[in-house]
Amino acid sequence: MEGERSPSKLSRKNPSAFYLEKVSFSWPSGIKALDQCSLSIPSSGLWMLVGANGSGKSTLFRLISGMLQPNSGQIHCSLKPLLMFQNPDHQLLMPSCRSDLALSLPRGLTIKERLQRMREALEQVDLAGVESRPIHTLSGGQKQRLALAGALVSDATLLLLDEPTALLDLDSQQAVLKTVSKLCRRSKNPLTALWITHRLEELEYCDGAAMMDKGQIGEWFSGDLLIQRLKLLAGRRV
Ligand SMILES: Nc1ncnc2c1ncn2[C@@H]1O[C@H](COP(=O)(O)OP(=O)(O)O)[C@@H](O)[C@H]1O
Ligand SMILES: [Mg+2]
Repeated sequence: MEGERSPSKLSRKNPSAFYLEKVSFSWPSGIKALDQCSLSIPSSGLWMLVGANGSGKSTLFRLISGMLQPNSGQIHCSLKPLLMFQNPDHQLLMPSCRSDLALSLPRGLTIKERLQRMREALEQVDLAGVESRPIHTLSGGQKQRLALAGALVSDATLLLLDEPTALLDLDSQQAVLKTVSKLCRRSKNPLTALWITHRLEELEYCDGAAMMDKGQIGEWFSGDLLIQRLKLLAGRRV
């Protein structure tokens, strides 16, 4: 994959896909968070971004999801984005799993359709049968998977995951990774996920990984290759 997937080349090849072209954004304080940043996601799948604190990753997600507008450049996103954060308690609002999921359902469904959609979404994230459970009885990893079920019932097609496993133990981390990976590779309507991580072992699950530095994103590499490059860079800094 190395070398052949530079963001600018991809966006020219497939102009309808999700892409950013030379996007710049400065906070009102004057801090430039994105600097002529280009990115294109080659296809559905699990794509990971790695970068130091302050390199602009979270700002990028806010721009893609439409919470912020760029100062210049172009963002094209025909997918329906959904932002997921580190702390599931910041995104689950209702007392029970069913009432929380119901918040994400589209309008206009019959009661039967609503229940079926919630049941199918919970099955897909390996949480079948939790509808009536109070949310506070779920583990951190189960809460993240409930948030993923919310994405499924809302018909989101682009998951923006901002360090979704940073607060989880190893087992929960694996469960969330495997669930997202499965959703991105299912045969019917596979999702696209952009996953920010500091945990390099997660790169093993990705379809491609890129580095973000000083408001810009490099080209896509395989997870293994990016790890090698990061080790080389770390070696040079020592
Ligand atoms: N709400 C904000 N107001 C002002 N500056 C911000 C805000 N959020 C982030 N920044 C600044 O923007 C830059 C990029 O931050 P961020 O996107 O959070 O990076 P990352 O997620 O990679 O750690 C940093 O210099 C940070 O201090
Ligand atoms: Mg961040």
